[in-house]
Amino acid sequence: MSAFKAFRVHTIDGKPVCRFETLALKDLDPGPVVIKVAYSAITYKDAMAARGVGKNVRTDRPCVTGVDLSGEVVSSEDAQFKEGDRVIVTNYKLGVEHDGAYAEYARVPADWIVPLPAGLSLYEAMGLGTSGLTAALAVDRVEAAGLTPAAGAVGITGATGGVGTLAVNMFAQRGYKVIAISGKRDQQDFLRSIGAQAIIEREEFLRERAPLAPPLFAGALDNVGGAYFDRLAARMQPYGKLAVAGMAVGAEVTTTVLPLILRSIDILGINVSRQLQMKARRRLWERMASDLKPGKLAEISRPIAFEELDRTMDKFFDATTIGRVVVEVGSRAPQPRPA
Ligand SMILES: NC(=O)c1ccc[n+]([C@@H]2O[C@H](COP(=O)([O-])OP(=O)(O)OC[C@H]3O[C@@H](n4cnc5c(N)ncnc54)[C@H](OP(=O)(O)O)[C@@H]3O)[C@@H](O)[C@H]2O)c1
Repeated sequence: MSAFKAFRVHTIDGKPVCRFETLALKDLDPGPVVIKVAYSAITYKDAMAARGVGKNVRTDRPCVTGVDLSGEVVSSEDAQFKEGDRVIVTNYKLGVEHDGAYAEYARVPADWIVPLPAGLSLYEAMGLGTSGLTAALAVDRVEAAGLTPAAGAVGITGATGGVGTLAVNMFAQRGYKVIAISGKRDQQDFLRSIGAQAIIEREEFLRERAPLAPPLFAGALDNVGGAYFDRLAARMQPYGKLAVAGMAVGAEVTTTVLPLILRSIDILGINVSRQLQMKARRRLWERMASDLKPGKLAEISRPIAFEELDRTMDKFFDATTIGRVVVEVGSRAPQPRPA
């Protein structure tokens, strides 16, 4: 533990500069629980932090990025955890304001930690991570609002992304007819293999612009924002449940209130950042280890070596990633996926 490898972002002349460095525990932000990190992942937020898009990472001093981790507790000054506990940390300030997951060790507050539920490996936990939590919260919220498979189809935008793939698989497993909306023509077989029953290609989906269109979706999850939200809102059935999680193309929408009023649509905001209370967080992780565990998790997630981290980031901006990218923290080469 005396010296270990970490991927840090420095802000130099206002621009982010990322590099692998050798750190000691004392270099990390303090926290009562020390975790040996096994796996992390790359999310859109990590790519933004590494490339200086948006302003989510601290800039006054270097920061180990990485918003998702799974690993084993090495030592704890907090009675809630002890050496050997297998744990998960996602979100809160991890990897943006507090040194995060892209290091062989992390020091974090006990209140950010979720015990690894029975039924998930450390690798699988990062196959899910923030993306899984987002998809699970969407399923949980639309169903709590009354959605059932009998009501009709569920539309999912950004379907090949981290959140999208996991949501396709989770909703399909619960018996919903999933309609995937995707820009990747060459991934239609993959989307079908994880549970999509129909696919609408991006251009076709965006073609029509009327604020009210023939109803198609009883439920929906929007991961993309902008015109995608407009089109989903226009095509919701009466009493439809529209969950909104992402803004991969932008936060601005240009629809009217007509479909929302005339069709009595429920809009459900999805936020798994620090706002999601620990009780709800633990409950969703328990569900992801049991009734919401995606049967196709192994196909949706793929491992990369720690060394591949930097060059993999840019794929998030040209929308060429598929599913979840799991990072083997500290490894020298890709390892076989642990069971
Ligand atoms: N609310 C929350 O708590 C929360 C949590 C996690 C993530 N998010 C947000 O949710 C969104 C999705 O996250 P993610 O991890 O799934 O990201 P991701 O893995 O990068 O996937 C995003 C997907 O959106 C589509 N897309 C991306 N750029 C696009 C573009 N320029 N035009 C059209 N479609 C585009 C692509 O899917 P197709 O090619 O299949 O169309 C892409 O695979 C992000 O905005 C992220 O910040 C929110």
